[in-house]
Amino acid sequence: MQTTINSASSSNITNDFLPLEGTDYVEFYVGNAKQAAHYYKTAFGFQSLAYAGPETGMKDKVSYVVRQHKLTFVFTTPLRSRNPVADHIYRHGDGVKVLALKVSNARAAFEETTRRGGQPYLEPVSLQDDDGEVVLSGIHTYGDTVHLFVERENYNGIFMPGFREWKTVYNPVSTGLLYVDHCVGNVGWNQMNPRVQFYEQVMGFRNILSFDDKDISTEYSALMSKVMSNGNGYVKFPINEPAEGKKKSQVEEFLDFYGGEGVQHVAMATGNIVETVTALVDRGVEFLSIPESYYDSVLDRVGKIDEDLEPLRKLGILIDRDDEGYLLQIFSKPVEDRPTLFFEIIQRKGAKSFGKGNFKALFEALEREQDARGNL
Ligand code: FE2
Repeated sequence: MQTTINSASSSNITNDFLPLEGTDYVEFYVGNAKQAAHYYKTAFGFQSLAYAGPETGMKDKVSYVVRQHKLTFVFTTPLRSRNPVADHIYRHGDGVKVLALKVSNARAAFEETTRRGGQPYLEPVSLQDDDGEVVLSGIHTYGDTVHLFVERENYNGIFMPGFREWKTVYNPVSTGLLYVDHCVGNVGWNQMNPRVQFYEQVMGFRNILSFDDKDISTEYSALMSKVMSNGNGYVKFPINEPAEGKKKSQVEEFLDFYGGEGVQHVAMATGNIVETVTALVDRGVEFLSIPESYYDSVLDRVGKIDEDLEPLRKLGILIDRDDEGYLLQIFSKPVEDRPTLFFEIIQRKGAKSFGKGNFKALFEALEREQDARGNL
């Protein structure tokens, strides 16, 4: 048995030096923020929230903020070449730059993490306007990805100072997506354990689950993964590393095309995965297809579930069970032309794990896509 489960301990929460209240937002650096925002509204059901650009005093870039329930995405594009945002896109293509975390004290978060070895990205800065104050600070994590600490308890505005409300007549309805369940990072060879140490030592996270290449392998390729969680469990970051197989690991393909380490997928929670995925498919989101044979035996493995199997089979939704319940999940194809970032849609019905029982079916589906691209 290669999977290791470390049960959560409430004693860790009382001396949590980095109390996190959840994900504040995810910021993507993209080649065309206007079109990206339109895509996430149209395809995923986000609503317009805020805008910053030359009209609001931000001269070198523009940002569009969209929201769906507790999910907030920011899309940022540079207005000229040769600046850090343009360089990031040149190197990585469209991708996640910032995993922003909500804190009650951004100065303390910076102090506590940098004192423990975190590399500063943004010294604490106070942003103020008529609606109050937001304090930001930040540290680096894997690749060019960063964590920002966002303190917004004294702010009543639409997003943060520098942004104005983005009003539009085009407001597609929600698809039922609720919040960020977890964000997965792909790191290079032998980099999983150093990154696990970073989350433990610098950010006070715990390793709650581990999978080795025996758990996550197919006939051809393999990877290893460790799930890191903060004290209250609101923020979970699984870390993947490639492992040796007969052919190229999907994590290696990501590293090749992203130009280094970065966010592989963001998992978004829903309360009704059949309704949500039906809406997403209608709006053009593409998901990995799962062979029919998966459904012939899945109920033998996971036992009784509340849902009818037929819609799950039709949509390609995967099912897994752990000691605490079950979960339903599905994975999109990459949402840009590079085979890099994709999304997971997940509905938890008690289960706190990540779908280990689906790894084989999932990775075989990924390999078919990888093979079609000539990268297996
Ligand atoms: Fe996931």
